[in-house]
Parts: sequence; structure tokens; C-alpha cells
Amino acid sequence: MNFHVLTLFPEMIRQGLDISIIGRALAGGIISLEAVNIRDYTISKHKKVDDYTYGGGAGMLMQAQPVYDAWKAVCDKIKERANKDREQTTVEDGDLGSAAMPGQAGKSARVIYVTPQGKTFHQGMAREFAKEEDLIFLCGHYEGIDERVLEEIVTDYVSIGDYVLTGGELPAMVMIDAIARMVPGVLSNKDSGETESFSNHLLEYPQYSRPAVWHEKSVPEILLSGDHKKVDEWRLEQSIKRTKEIRPDLYEKWVLGRR
Ligand code: ADE
Repeated sequence: MNFHVLTLFPEMIRQGLDISIIGRALAGGIISLEAVNIRDYTISKHKKVDDYTYGGGAGMLMQAQPVYDAWKAVCDKIKERANKDREQTTVEDGDLGSAAMPGQAGKSARVIYVTPQGKTFHQGMAREFAKEEDLIFLCGHYEGIDERVLEEIVTDYVSIGDYVLTGGELPAMVMIDAIARMVPGVLSNKDSGETESFSNHLLEYPQYSRPAVWHEKSVPEILLSGDHKKVDEWRLEQSIKRTKEIRPDLYEKWVLGRR
């Protein structure tokens, strides 16, 4: 999986993600991350990327030209890499040729515009996006981006929740983190991406580590029993209880899913 982020603050993206589990996956080449500075693509003499909005109103809008040209540069790079991979595969597999290429040759990468006007991001979307070979994130700033370029390049409008941030970088990082951990090989324990909160509409059960007693609080007896069946039953019970209390909307989905 290759993540490409179109942004005015590439350092924020690089520094925010090159750490811990995602940093390790980047170092190991399981995923890649390219942060592209939209400002590098402006044709304005003064490196301007924004201007006043037609019709008046407060604030500035990011202009179409630099966004479009930054996107085009990323698409060209992706195409070039796909062509190289195809040539390589043709050489290695003889007459198998391009039929041996992994699925996505020729298909253009999805472009996710992170915006409070989008659909709300959830675990199912993370799982879906993780199947892509390349994903391009577009981060807006100021009052947003000229609608005309969005119409031409954006495939998905996605929000991280009903609140407004000053820019798209933090939402993009949130989504990249959630998507990357669904990419096979990113998490060391193969299963841990699926057994946790949201994978079955239930929140995760409470967990405990050593010591067995801390601040006069004991770990639930059942977890020390060594009876895996009982432990699983207890955990499911706890998940259901927690979900019902904290997220009745999710609990309803879980109940419906069992019918
Ligand atoms: N940009 C600003 N606020 C946002 C949000 N809540 N989700 C996605 N992008 C945003």
C-alpha cells in the first residue's frame, strides 16, 4: 500500500506518521508514504496557493491549479511505477506478461478529500481502503478548495467526525493510521486487527496486565483460571455490556446482525 498526501504541510504528515507501528511498517517497506507539497506546484510568482472567494465571504480558498498539478504529478509517478512493475513481471515470468500483474494496473488511484462535508469514517471504510494499491489524500486549508478541481479529481469525500479542524492533515493521519494497520503484515499479531472494537459492532472488553493486584484492585478471577472457553465467554459478556452502556447505536447493530 502506497499513501500519497497532497498537503501544504508535508513535514506534519511525515513527522506524525514515522513513528511506532506505522513507522516500523514504513521502514520495513510494507507501506510507503509520500507527502507532496502543493505549494511546489503553483505557477504563481509569489508561490501563492490561495485567493479570495467569488461572491464574497470570510477567508481564502485554495486554488485549483496547484492542487490539480500536484495530483497530476502523483498520478504520473504511480503510472510510471506500474509500468516499471509490469515490465519487470514480463521479464521474470516470460509469456505470462501483464496477466501476472497484481490487479490494479491501469486503474487510477482513489483520491480522498478529507473534509467535514464528507461521509463519516469508520472501521469498515478502513478495511475497504486497505485493499487499494495506492491512495491519494487531499488536505485542505483555509476555507477549503475550489470546487472545480474537487469535481475533477476527488473520488471520496470523508470526514473524521462532526467537528471542524483547521486543516485536513490530522484527519488524513487518523485515516492513514487506521487503514495502514489493516494492511497485512503491519500488525505483528495477524489477528489483532480483527478481534478488537468495531470489527463485529462490539466495543473491546476490559484488559489487565501484571500485577494481579494494583491499588487494592484485583484482576477478575476468571482471567487467572486458565479456562480459555470461560475467558472467551466472559470477554464477550463484557463487550456486550460495555457496548450497550456506552454505544447503544452499535449494540442495536450487533443485535440486528445476530438475527
Ligand atoms: N477538515 C477539517 N475538519 C475536518 C474533519 N472533521 N474531518 C475531515 N477533514 C476535516
